[in-house]
Amino acid sequence: MSADVTLESLTGGHHDVLAELRATSPIAWVPAVDGWVVTTRELAGTVMRDAVTYTVDDPRFSTAQVVGPSMLSLDGEAHARHRDPFAAAYRPAVVMARYADTIVTTARDLVAGIAGDRRAELRRQLAGPLAVAVVALSLGLEDIATNDLLGWYDRIVAAVENVSVGLPIDPSAAEAFAHLSDALASAVTRPDSVLHEAAAQMSQQEMVSNAAVFLFGGIETSEGMTANLLAHLLENPDQLAAVSADRSLIDTAVEESLRLEPAAARVDRYATRDVEVAGQHVRSGDLVIVSLAAANRDPAVYAMPDRFDLSRANARTHLPSPTGRMRASAPSWRGWRPGPR
Ligand code: HEM
Repeated sequence: MSADVTLESLTGGHHDVLAELRATSPIAWVPAVDGWVVTTRELAGTVMRDAVTYTVDDPRFSTAQVVGPSMLSLDGEAHARHRDPFAAAYRPAVVMARYADTIVTTARDLVAGIAGDRRAELRRQLAGPLAVAVVALSLGLEDIATNDLLGWYDRIVAAVENVSVGLPIDPSAAEAFAHLSDALASAVTRPDSVLHEAAAQMSQQEMVSNAAVFLFGGIETSEGMTANLLAHLLENPDQLAAVSADRSLIDTAVEESLRLEPAAARVDRYATRDVEVAGQHVRSGDLVIVSLAAANRDPAVYAMPDRFDLSRANARTHLPSPTGRMRASAPSWRGWRPGPR
């Protein structure tokens, strides 16, 4: 039991707190979050792979109550049925062929817009708009005004957060979801949309629910990832110089940045049965939080884990796995606050 860990300490400079937890046990009960927190790379991988013991299909997760069942809230065969139809559209080669040129142009335009100023807020002026533009493009929503899209997004996310603390769904969220559904219904007709092929393999409602999850899953995470990468490079001028001199290092820089500061800090599961884990007794129904932030700095796997290091050979082994799906879930995108899920 780690009674001295507070929500504030996890939210603030939480890496020290997580390191202390990890030093005591790979899994610890933290009353402040009313759940177990997993902090080692090995146990995090085990939990994320075991969808039978650790489920996402639990009514305490609120996203499904707002957007309907999707791959985010399902396990096993149901998860595969929702997820597999999108797999082809997300293959790296397909993504590159369809979107790379437009993404490069968008990024260059955004940089051109700030290049003349002596200062820029890179998250708000570059990372955020780029993330929104790319997600909208891939879904086929590029004709929707960004403010409309973000307005719907904010209202739906707020509803998910309300539901997670027992409040009713605000009618404005239902209205936003209806607008989004209409926009998605026409987006599926675009051959470049990731929804195009999938739409034929599932109901309209299922397609909309999963597309809403892409919206949640794609925007804040990508924005955070780009902003963190830029911060890591700017804080490490020698490594910035190395990347500038050798563009082939960009991939490694992205992976190492995702390891050091994953844009989704945790994923949540519920135990489906009583289980002994690293000497701790996890009971059926307990919340099990996998701290990706902690797992990715496990000193047993990553030497000098707090350093941003482009020469790190195993940077790519960070969680969540960049190549394979680990299981049926998506993150709590907003750090340590409860929900949305
Ligand atoms: C750097 C950016 C991103 C990060 C850090 C991130 C992080 C995560 C994490 C931690 C999970 C949970 C994995 C698990 O439980 O095993 C996840 C799943 C998911 N992410 Fe991302 N994500 C990113 C980008 C995106 C983008 C761009 C999209 C959509 C366009 C997206 C859509 C999803 C979906 C749909 C899932 C659920 C997958 C499933 O249930 O099988 N994510 N992501």
